Amino acid sequence: MIKASDFGKHFLWGVATAAAQIEGTSDYYGKGPSIWDAFSHKVGKIKKGHKPNVACDFYHRFREDIAMVKLLGFRIFRFSIAWSRILPFGEGTINPEGIRFYHNVIDECLEQGITPYVTLYHWDLPQQLEEKGGWTSFSINRAFNDFVHICAKAYGDKVKHWMVINEPFGFTSLGYMLGLHAPGKTGLGNFFSAAHHTALAQAEGGKILRAEISNPTIGTTFSCSEILPYTQSDNDILVSKRVDCLMNRLFIEPTLGLGFPSENWEVLEKFQIEYGTWRHTERYKFDFDFIGLQNYFPLTVKYNAFIPVIQAWEVKAKSRKKPHTAMGWEINADGFYNIIKQFSSYPNIKNIIITENGAAYPDKLIDGHVHDVDRIEYFKLYLAALLKAKNEGMPITGYMAWTLMDNFEWAEGFTARFGLVYNDFKTQERTIKDSGYWWQAFLKS
Ligand code: BGC
Repeated sequence: MIKASDFGKHFLWGVATAAAQIEGTSDYYGKGPSIWDAFSHKVGKIKKGHKPNVACDFYHRFREDIAMVKLLGFRIFRFSIAWSRILPFGEGTINPEGIRFYHNVIDECLEQGITPYVTLYHWDLPQQLEEKGGWTSFSINRAFNDFVHICAKAYGDKVKHWMVINEPFGFTSLGYMLGLHAPGKTGLGNFFSAAHHTALAQAEGGKILRAEISNPTIGTTFSCSEILPYTQSDNDILVSKRVDCLMNRLFIEPTLGLGFPSENWEVLEKFQIEYGTWRHTERYKFDFDFIGLQNYFPLTVKYNAFIPVIQAWEVKAKSRKKPHTAMGWEINADGFYNIIKQFSSYPNIKNIIITENGAAYPDKLIDGHVHDVDRIEYFKLYLAALLKAKNEGMPITGYMAWTLMDNFEWAEGFTARFGLVYNDFKTQERTIKDSGYWWQAFLKS
């Protein structure tokens, strides 16, 4: 049986969260609205019309929740700062109440012996900035840089571990190309311009943190999925490479100084012409101390001429009769191992931390217990794959489980439960699931 000690004494174990998914108090204590507050008011955008304005009420319950992180045995708590809590309009006036709140969260972590890992941007753009074009506008970079300066100055003496951006591909594709997430924009033009500004923000944010904080450890996080062609036909292989370009390579390669990938595909070539200049390539580059990888599932794709632009169609796990989670995501730890290997093969990646990994299941609270056996099995499989990768010399130094407690799962509202702790959203009562207890025992092992 796999043990935490197999990963070595210095391996970092943590649990991850994000502000908009847990904090609540969306429009209290001086906070301005974020794009998720606005998006959740549009009809039909979020399952069951759920809204993030109370979420897990972490704003009032953070002390108990951090105590739970400790009880489960994690040494790291990853959380994000809500930009519009610090700057209600995204820029200009600072909200002292917001500054104070994160001081309290950080102090609580430190008092309980938990190391805070702070994400600067986990998808909750201030709505006022979105009204000026959001990530598609060039003015976003100045606003983001100011926000990073403010956070570095306020917390840099206490917080030494930072992540600049959470999954740039995740929010630029879902929010600016497909319109499924906030702010609900669509089209390639929006996507590429958002991608360009995000890649800049990521590097510039890293530079600011390094200049302002003494001895920081600076990372950023990327979503990643192994992409498999459905058959070995030329067309399936062709589209699997396109999807790989978009989902896996689009943001890591500019960060590493390689510029945006082109891969012989006219869509990306157009993007290259606009943003692939030497000047941009230099500005996208930053030597992060660690790269955060976030993986949940591999993706199988098939050529389909009727799908615009990418001509790829996902062949779902269910239709291939493969095991999957409540999100329909394939459970396949080989995919986890393979994608870590793919990222490890870039020449200049020094250090990888898995900053998210986990699974949603339709948990039921019965007589005060949640027997989430499937989630335990998922973690066992994925951790075994991680250990294999580490033992083969891939530079993996940490792992963070997604997520501490059931929360606001973006467009899924409260219908998808990913937590190690069950949350009753009516009473805010927390119940540690069997998977939480499994982690507790595992981390002692
Ligand atoms: C995001 C999380 C999200 C999780 C599960 C990641 O892409 O960073 O915020 O809850 O996936 O969907």
